[in-house]
Amino acid sequence: MTDTSKRKLGSTGPSVSPIGVGFMSFRTGAGPDDEKAARDVVDAALGSGISFFDTADVYGPEHSEILLGRALKGRRDEATIATKFGNALDRGTNPNARINGSPEYVRAAIDASLRRLDVDHVDLYYLHRVDPTVPIEDTVGALKELVEAGKVRHIGLSEAGPKTIRRAHAVHPIAAVQSEWSLFSRDIELSTVPVTRELGIAIVPYSPLGRAWLTGAVRTRSDIKKQLAQHPRFAEENFETNRALADEVVAVAAELEVRPSQVALAWVLGRGDDVVPIPGTRHAEYVRENAGALTVELSSDQADRLGKLADQVAGHRSVQPQNLGTEAPESAK
Ligand SMILES: NC(=O)c1ccc[n+]([C@@H]2O[C@H](COP(=O)([O-])OP(=O)(O)OC[C@H]3O[C@@H](n4cnc5c(N)ncnc54)[C@H](OP(=O)(O)O)[C@@H]3O)[C@@H](O)[C@H]2O)c1
Repeated sequence: MTDTSKRKLGSTGPSVSPIGVGFMSFRTGAGPDDEKAARDVVDAALGSGISFFDTADVYGPEHSEILLGRALKGRRDEATIATKFGNALDRGTNPNARINGSPEYVRAAIDASLRRLDVDHVDLYYLHRVDPTVPIEDTVGALKELVEAGKVRHIGLSEAGPKTIRRAHAVHPIAAVQSEWSLFSRDIELSTVPVTRELGIAIVPYSPLGRAWLTGAVRTRSDIKKQLAQHPRFAEENFETNRALADEVVAVAAELEVRPSQVALAWVLGRGDDVVPIPGTRHAEYVRENAGALTVELSSDQADRLGKLADQVAGHRSVQPQNLGTEAPESAK
């Protein structure tokens, strides 16, 4: 059985629940329905021992942080809050915004996130995407100042290349690197994971349910959420291949009499104690279901069968592959 106790985010980071909750599904307005859904998700999470919440300034944009802050009102101390800055690409309000890792932007972004979350510090602050024009030493130098000022407890990177992770860690300890990792996406096992393990940095796998493919709920193209309509893995030409692969997860779930999402999460959790997946949802019942993955045990035969799926998946894992695994430029100094 997978260890259900806390997992540590790197050698210097906090101990967190072994599974988190991703708040990217809260993309729409901060209306009463969304607010109730966010509160229900937080209630379900805390009630299931899940206290690690993942958001970002671009989710919504901005609404996700606002809703998480409101849902945690009065119980901030029970939660570990992670948010992100720097990936301004899909801000509906500013379509021309770019990835920004400049020190000035770091300072402005944290103040805006603290205001939206209505907290005086965040526990983990990630650079969402590496800025290809800013040396990582400059970005992490500014983040280190935020730690010293008490606005941020720990620093993380998302989708950073291996050399950039090393350079960043030399400026200030990096607690966690967030990257896509699931039964459908295993490429970081050869690039990022060896470096994070050498340096004592945790991995926070995002999209651990393959953006819903691994829940078994995607049967026809009409089941796809509208924001994923352009995603290569849901494209018409790739759909049947990927559905057949997802059926293998459904088959293993039937063998174990559990849910497919629990099988997918159990596999990710089984990659190591330094791994803390953050399945995303806006449904309280999914939070409880996903928490149930902590007690699911895969046989080695099942893990082997599932481990072969990623090589056969059709379509790239991102609509913006140019922004993944980016290495920052060297400093001109
Ligand atoms: N660092 C980055 O660049 C990055 C990129 C992507 C995501 N993330 C983070 O990672 C989190 C998770 O990634 P993700 O949302 O892309 O993908 P995911 O967790 O693989 O899948 C989320 C999808 O699965 C559905 N779902 C969740 N649990 C389910 C269950 N038990 N049964 C059926 N369906 C279920 C959700 O539905 P509902 O939403 O309708 O509940 C949502 O459509 C995000 O929320 C975000 O915090 C980070």
